[in-house]
Amino acid sequence: MKAAVLYQYGQPLVVEDVELDEPKAGEVLVKIGAAGICRSDRHFMHGDAHIRLPAVLGHEGAGTVERVGPGVTTTKPGDQVILSFVPACGRCQSCLEGRSNICDTHMATGPFMYDGTCRLHKGRQSLHHMGKVACFAEYAVVPETGCVPVPQKTPIPMDKAAMIGCCVPTGVGAALFSAKVRAGSTVAVVGCGGVGLNVIMGAKLANAGKIIAVDIRDGQLEFAMKFGATHMVNAADRDPVAQVKELTGGRGADYTFEVFGSAETVKAAYDMCGKSGIVTVVGIAPIGDEASINAVDLVRNEKTLRGTYYGSARSRVDMPTLVEMYLAGKLNLDDLVVRHYTLDQVNEAYDDMDRGEVGRGAIMFP
Ligand code: APR
Ligand code: ZN
Repeated sequence: MKAAVLYQYGQPLVVEDVELDEPKAGEVLVKIGAAGICRSDRHFMHGDAHIRLPAVLGHEGAGTVERVGPGVTTTKPGDQVILSFVPACGRCQSCLEGRSNICDTHMATGPFMYDGTCRLHKGRQSLHHMGKVACFAEYAVVPETGCVPVPQKTPIPMDKAAMIGCCVPTGVGAALFSAKVRAGSTVAVVGCGGVGLNVIMGAKLANAGKIIAVDIRDGQLEFAMKFGATHMVNAADRDPVAQVKELTGGRGADYTFEVFGSAETVKAAYDMCGKSGIVTVVGIAPIGDEASINAVDLVRNEKTLRGTYYGSARSRVDMPTLVEMYLAGKLNLDDLVVRHYTLDQVNEAYDDMDRGEVGRGAIMFP
């Protein structure tokens, strides 16, 4: 089958033929329907984040179950499934505490299957599985626990299903499950790409009052208005902190979200947050980056600074709910995906992201 492989940081992905093993016990073979173009893969391509190389990238995906390995009981051939890049083992301390988004077993085994081996190979070389998903490929073998069947009998469009694999839970979850945005409150979202737009949708669902979109590109800001933003701040023109303060009567926002991934934007999100406000960091900064905050301000203004991974969502519980919300017209995923690509065009798709094209791109598989 064809897959997009990262051999070296700083190099484009190589789309080529690779081998995929049959699913072992507790694993599922999925025919990929769509895979989203998310910045997290870009961090690996640039070497800002590290993964065992070579690796097949792609972690925002959905498809159809083709075959299941021994012992699989929660899904069957023909099911439409959303892939979770944190399959939850269900047995570790984090899972037992209800925080399956930071499953200890998954974190410990990383880009390998649970048994510490890979199903992907190129000749005699093993290829690693990004997030145990590796959906920049025609097929994927994933743990059963990372396969979330779409509850509806009729499949939903594959590109929308793929979004529910990453940017939707990450963004909507950051607002609803992690920060728990209060009705009427003021929200500022720094970075309005695929994930940031979902934070905005989450804030809108929570009935926030003002929702201030902050980005360095006017196109992204205008696009964000479609998803519920009420105000725009261009951080390239003038200090975004001063602009958010102006829009909030000098007070700062009640909830701020960092959705790009840099020390600079973490600091901006912190500084534009007001008294007793909550700063939620969603973006993944380059490894080694440290953001400094004013330690006295943290105390005197009783701010909360926290990170959220995968929107603090529990994939198997929350993804089916997000599907329901999409079908009920509460999540505007139809306007979110604006570009479709073939797998061969994956590098172009990332160039479009770097150029700041609005909305999300998705690779579609025939
Ligand atoms: N201030 C505000 N916005 C910025 C800045 C800045 N200094 N620099 C970049 N941005 C904007 C970009 O213009 C873009 O609109 O941040 C947005 C990032 O969006 P995408 O590139 O689409 O990235 P996305 O896939 O949404 O991921 C965002 O979340 O899950 C993590 O790893 C992911 O760190 C990444 C982040
Ligand atoms: Zn992602």
